[in-house]
Amino acid sequence: MKILILVTILFTIKMSNSSCYWNENCHYKQFSSKTPYEFVRGDIRDSVVIKPGCKTISLWGLVRHGKRNPGENFVYKMLDATLLKDYIKTSHEKGEGIMCAQDVDNLSNWIIDEDTFHNVHQIAKEGYEEMAGLGHRFSAVFKDLLISTDEKNYTLRSAYGHWLENSAKGFIQGIGNESLVIDKPHKTYDIIAPYESCNYYMKGVKQNPEIYKEPTKYQDMTEFLAVKEGIQKRTGINYTLTNENITSLYDLCRYTSSGTHKKLSPWCALFTTEDIKVLEYIGDLRHYYRNSYGTPVNKIFGRIPLTDLLETFIKAKNGKGNLFTIYFTHATMMDMVYTALGLFKDEVPLTAEFRNDTRKWRSSKSSAFASNLMVTLNRCIDGDETDYNVVFYLNERPLDLICNNGECSWREFEEILKPFVFGCEPPYLTCGKYQKDVQKNPNIYAESEKYKKTSEYLATKDRIQRRTGIDYELTDTNVTALYDLCRHTWSGVESKLSPWCALFTKDDLQVLEYIQDLRSYYRNGYGTAQSEIFGQIPLADLLRSFQKVKEGDGKKMTAYFTHATMLDMVYTSLGLFKDNKPLSSTNRDRDRKWRSSANSAFSVNLVAVLNRCTKEDEIDYNVVFYLNEEPIRAICADGTCTWKEFEEKLTPFLNTKIDFCEFKSEPY
Ligand SMILES: *[C@@H]1O[C@H](CO)[C@@H](O)[C@H](O)[C@H]1NC(C)=O
Ligand SMILES: *[C@@H]1O[C@H](CO)[C@@H](O)[C@H](O)[C@H]1NC(C)=O
Ligand SMILES: *[C@@H]1O[C@H](CO)[C@@H](O)[C@H](O)[C@H]1NC(C)=O
Ligand SMILES: *[C@@H]1O[C@H](CO)[C@@H](O)[C@H](O)[C@H]1NC(C)=O
Ligand SMILES: *[C@@H]1O[C@H](CO)[C@@H](O)[C@H](O)[C@H]1NC(C)=O
Ligand SMILES: *[C@@H]1O[C@H](CO)[C@@H](O)[C@H](O)[C@H]1NC(C)=O
Ligand SMILES: *[C@@H]1O[C@H](CO)[C@@H](O)[C@H](O)[C@H]1NC(C)=O
Repeated sequence: MKILILVTILFTIKMSNSSCYWNENCHYKQFSSKTPYEFVRGDIRDSVVIKPGCKTISLWGLVRHGKRNPGENFVYKMLDATLLKDYIKTSHEKGEGIMCAQDVDNLSNWIIDEDTFHNVHQIAKEGYEEMAGLGHRFSAVFKDLLISTDEKNYTLRSAYGHWLENSAKGFIQGIGNESLVIDKPHKTYDIIAPYESCNYYMKGVKQNPEIYKEPTKYQDMTEFLAVKEGIQKRTGINYTLTNENITSLYDLCRYTSSGTHKKLSPWCALFTTEDIKVLEYIGDLRHYYRNSYGTPVNKIFGRIPLTDLLETFIKAKNGKGNLFTIYFTHATMMDMVYTALGLFKDEVPLTAEFRNDTRKWRSSKSSAFASNLMVTLNRCIDGDETDYNVVFYLNERPLDLICNNGECSWREFEEILKPFVFGCEPPYLTCGKYQKDVQKNPNIYAESEKYKKTSEYLATKDRIQRRTGIDYELTDTNVTALYDLCRHTWSGVESKLSPWCALFTKDDLQVLEYIQDLRSYYRNGYGTAQSEIFGQIPLADLLRSFQKVKEGDGKKMTAYFTHATMLDMVYTSLGLFKDNKPLSSTNRDRDRKWRSSANSAFSVNLVAVLNRCTKEDEIDYNVVFYLNEEPIRAICADGTCTWKEFEEKLTPFLNTKIDFCEFKSEPY
């Protein structure tokens, strides 16, 4: 028995000795975020998807910079580690270590590359070649867009940093037209690196040691300790290597390998395939927690460039957009965009305890040097019909995780990206036509102004004048100011009335209330045609949320906090508080339904609840609407809508478009 075991061990050692790096057939070449692009790329010339009858009218891309040299923090450590080259040779000659002779020879012949070690943090020659290759291949496919543009209807811009700016230069060299203009990088805030000007991210995430808890812990796991021990044995190094030494050796392997020249570094011979996988996992853990699913804020940053993508394509569809828009940025931004899109998301978060070899999150693929997300907008003409579709590519292959193998209909595309745009602001806020026709249009208040000339209102004014004994004539502004003093200085919660309210009779207050009703009716309610359309947008969101919940993939709660304007618009879309006749200055209907005091009070709230009902074996759903904590009976009988009623009511809103806005204004 003992003899058998001994034989096995000897045999294992002999086996590992017989596998050498130099003659291995299939090297594992995934080096986390320092993977050369060549090892992960496809080729757009072979993979481009354009259906018959379609033509690409706009290209949008987010590109990580090409290979750059190591930064200052790493370069000195790597230089220290190069001393091990001679050490390994000497050990080998003394019969220590178990590396193959040819691998030791190769290492011993390795010479330091001036560019890599002297031009700290600059784009490397290979990085420039990666970019030029990318530009070349894309211009071969999208000639009409990238080459023959006379006007400057394109955008080329990098985030701040010379290695990024030089990446953009490499790209246009590849296109073959160096007179293309690269916009100046934005030094402070940029949509393609928004996290850099965000203190919360820089301090709270990037520089927060807590974020690196998992990768740090992983370096104490047996898996990682085995890597260290293996290297130690292989090289015959007789003192204990530190974690930092391992990192430096790994960096030597990855930075001095070349993808474009198809040459791996002899430093990689220090590692087995398993070692490289373990080191790759450390990178994946870092990226996962710093830039992706591991920290909630990351997906929010990812939405920012995606909003630009949507806006760019909407403009291009309307004939006013860029032919191409290409941004050069960091791995951080790429990771955040994948996260916003829900790509490469594992069911189980990545942890130090378990390296899942079939995990989806792979920094080597998604954040290799020069990795890129390119998106095309295609116009398709079939007879009299014009249609649009959008194709997503990652590293020059269709991104099969989105839509149908990367190919989205316009509607699917909008549905994916729209939530990122309307996530936080009400839809009318930046709509040019709303600003012009409603918000800044004095005619909107014509009825309320007319009402101030009626005898009813004049009587109120007169009463105030007489009650207070003010002997000069109060203006309308003065009356409003007194009314505001009454309304703003009383407290509902403390049941405290304001003494200013004593200036008014009950009738006066009703007259003044009517002025407000007229204003909100014409600005936000039935008095303006746009109101109903804007109100449909949150309602479409409500339908989508509940549909998702029914499919088992939704949120337990979605709460939006907004303005009276938005609520008025939603009431209008739902047909609530609708009077038979429009509100008018000449007839104050005391029984009118439109009451700003009720429907636009502070803290008013519209809540919809989805209920699942199980009866015997049947599962059914219904929806109850509440306004200010009471069921709304005007939508469905008894205030409860069957799922069918609910869907029938809201489904038309899914197609709501606010393409009448004309231009995007500053929010007011
Ligand atoms: C090492 O040397 C051999 C033989 O000269 C060569 O085939 C191989 O490509 C070299 N480099 C590496 C990294 O193995
Ligand atoms: C190994 O790492 C230690 C610090 O952790 C450093 O002082 C030493 O110079 C490194 N040795 C080599 C050969 O890189
Ligand atoms: C871009 O410029 C060209 C002129 O070179 C012009 O014909 C074209 O309409 C412009 N395209 C767009 C989408 O604005
Ligand atoms: C190169 O780009 C410039 C500026 O967009 C354009 O005027 C010129 O026609 C282009 N040259 C070629 C050869 O396409
Ligand atoms: C370690 O190796 C070096 C170089 O081969 C040698 O000089 C030294 O004596 C060795 N130390 C130990 C403790 O074996
Ligand atoms: C590994 O990851 C894949 C993809 O996320 C997942 O389907 C699988 O369940 C994971 N395996 C384990 C054991 O967690
Ligand atoms: C009344 O309104 C006029 C402007 O309409 C204003 O100039 C005046 O200061 C106001 N008086 C008081 C007491 O608020």
